[in-house]
Amino acid sequence: NKPRIVVIGSLNMDIVVETSRFPRVGETLTGEHVHFIPGGKGANQAVAAARLGGQTTMIGSVGDDMFGQSLIESLQQDAISTDHVIRIAGTPTGIASIMLAESDNQIVVVPGANASCLPEHIQAVEQVIAEHDIVLVQLEIPLETASAVCQLAKKLGKIVILNPAPARELPEAMLKCVDYITPNRLELATLTGIDASGDHLQTAMEALLEMGPSCVITTLGEEGSAFLRKGETLVKVPAYRVPVVDTTGAGDAYNGGLAYALAAGNELKEAVAFACKVSAMSVTKLGAQAGMPTQEDLKILNQPIR
Ligand code: RIB
Ligand code: NA
Repeated sequence: NKPRIVVIGSLNMDIVVETSRFPRVGETLTGEHVHFIPGGKGANQAVAAARLGGQTTMIGSVGDDMFGQSLIESLQQDAISTDHVIRIAGTPTGIASIMLAESDNQIVVVPGANASCLPEHIQAVEQVIAEHDIVLVQLEIPLETASAVCQLAKKLGKIVILNPAPARELPEAMLKCVDYITPNRLELATLTGIDASGDHLQTAMEALLEMGPSCVITTLGEEGSAFLRKGETLVKVPAYRVPVVDTTGAGDAYNGGLAYALAAGNELKEAVAFACKVSAMSVTKLGAQAGMPTQEDLKILNQPIR
């Protein structure tokens, strides 16, 4: 039996422009390449879980335009169920304008139809959610919807992973329903209102744990990640050393990998190590969804950074 993962979240078309450097304000620059690559944190996480071998369902919304159609078709190519991706008439599909330069990126997201993924839609798909083991949600859809998902999923006895990106303050009623919350350092600081840099990491993670979730997993980029459960000590898991091509979607690869590994029945430490591996592999390729690895792709990664 394949692990079953349902993702409720955003779908965007990523318009990726490669250029040798970032333009200055008011400057016009000639770029090198443009790519239209399926993205959106929700859809990216669904693709990550599916490519690893999960039976995956996507719930979200797109517009009734060409981008919407191609995002749905691209998910279907990874055998993801799109029966509950709704098309909103007269609304554009979400896009992300992404500039890649100087081994870094700048991203502007226009939510479009993602803003129309409403709590009513979640009530309508209760039965669908009930058929999965793990529920994975992010914050690129309205907060009321993400919160409704967490509460419904908990009521159904599901394991809930919340990737709090992009970060914002979250209601207690929502956080109480979360099993695993996966911020990066900056998101951790936004969620708790306290500094999470350097040695303050553990203090910030303890503060977040107090706010309701059962476990806090912080992604630390090249430092790997750290997790903390109630009444336990902080556990650090190393990252993998890889040549970086594009970090867009690295966090999504991580969350999809974590969801897959937990749904497959792994212990938390193994699942976190696996997520680090999936994330590392994803940054070696261009594009968010385009860069999500298969189990086969992961075989070349055996060296964690110590
Ligand atoms: O996490 C990466 C994603 O964030 C991109 O694919 C882009 O669509 C934005 O939503
Ligand atoms: Na990538």
